[in-house]
Amino acid sequence: MSDQKAIQERTLAELGATAPDAISARFAELRSGFDHRVDLLSAGDLAGWTALRNAWLGRASGVITAIGDNWLKPATPEQKRIVGKALNELKAHVERTLEELRALAEAAGDAGTTSAGGVDLSLPGVQRPLGTRHPLRQTIEELERIFLSIGFSVVEGPEIETPYYNFEALNIPEHHPARDTMDTFYLSLPSRAAATASEALPPRAATAGSNKQMASPELLLRTHTSPMQIHTMERQKPPVRIIVPGRCYRRDNPDSTHSFAFHQIEGLAVDTDITFCEFKGTCEYFVREFLGPKTRTRLRPSYFPFTEPSAEVDASCFACDGRGCRICKHAGWIELFGAGMVDPAVYGYVNYDAKRLSGFAFGMGVERMAMMRYGINDIQLFYQNDVRFLRQFE
Ligand code: FA5
Repeated sequence: MSDQKAIQERTLAELGATAPDAISARFAELRSGFDHRVDLLSAGDLAGWTALRNAWLGRASGVITAIGDNWLKPATPEQKRIVGKALNELKAHVERTLEELRALAEAAGDAGTTSAGGVDLSLPGVQRPLGTRHPLRQTIEELERIFLSIGFSVVEGPEIETPYYNFEALNIPEHHPARDTMDTFYLSLPSRAAATASEALPPRAATAGSNKQMASPELLLRTHTSPMQIHTMERQKPPVRIIVPGRCYRRDNPDSTHSFAFHQIEGLAVDTDITFCEFKGTCEYFVREFLGPKTRTRLRPSYFPFTEPSAEVDASCFACDGRGCRICKHAGWIELFGAGMVDPAVYGYVNYDAKRLSGFAFGMGVERMAMMRYGINDIQLFYQNDVRFLRQFE
């Protein structure tokens, strides 16, 4: 390159190349110098290609610019025609060759990336859009916020239970009809795994079924979060004020309001002076916080083996304010959750003094609460992970 520079840095007169043939010979010399540089360039050498392009086409000090300055400008009008034409041809040759080389170098680079497993750092990175919290998680957090604000704390418990915790200690003996509505999945674990699972449960669980249960522990997927009432009262002296969010399972056929796996939030408050007034006041506070200050609450008599009296808690329809519409099926009221005063029989299972203590409990389906709040008409939408659905809750 230094020789070529030397040529283009001098004028044609200095080079003694004023005749047309001599001028053409000098251009041929330059062109073969360029072609030689091209031959030395290896395929895929992008840095070498860039250096070659700058040396020949660089605006300030490239060979083509220097020829224009040193050969063309001082030339006589007659020489100008020859120099100008030859310079255009040389420039076109340089540009075309460099362009071909660039395409080849890029192709070689791509092939190298795929065949050698290399990484092309010049490619833009993969942008992963930020996700959002699932509407069920958002609903659970909202429910937790409301109950935390009035002194409840959040506890969680096992999804695998013994029949004792899921039924018996909740005053649902074997063959009680209430078990029919809570058919579930029983687990036949290999004996070692079952023994480990059983050991992981509190002591009462392992002994509850007597020796028969120890030999072949019967385990099931909990049908509700109510077993955590028992676990908590076993572990903790009163007063108790807890809510329990968690997943439950039932052998329900999936439809627009049922899933075999769903979520509940359990609530339990036990103390020495809890009356039906506290129970009703808590329900009303919760309903107003969750559905808006104008919402009214109604308690309807119901039945649960572990509460007495029991009630279904209804709210005036948030859509029509109780006048009646399609959402509330023209009843003006929407059923929210089951609840009641803790049945004294339950205290007997956890060594609580039923004469001194009283309390209330409730259990609500998170999916149903979310459906009502967001106007969702199919519970299955929560589980399908369709981003078109999930994006609406960003
Ligand atoms: C119970 O599970 C009681 N443990 C609630 C309770 C707790 C009452 C404490 C009193 C005191 P129930 O079977 O009604 O009750 O279920 C409660 C809620 O869980 C239902 O209202 C519903 O919202 C939800 N649920 C029940 N089964 C399903 C299901 N298959 N799919 C979706 N949600 C369900």
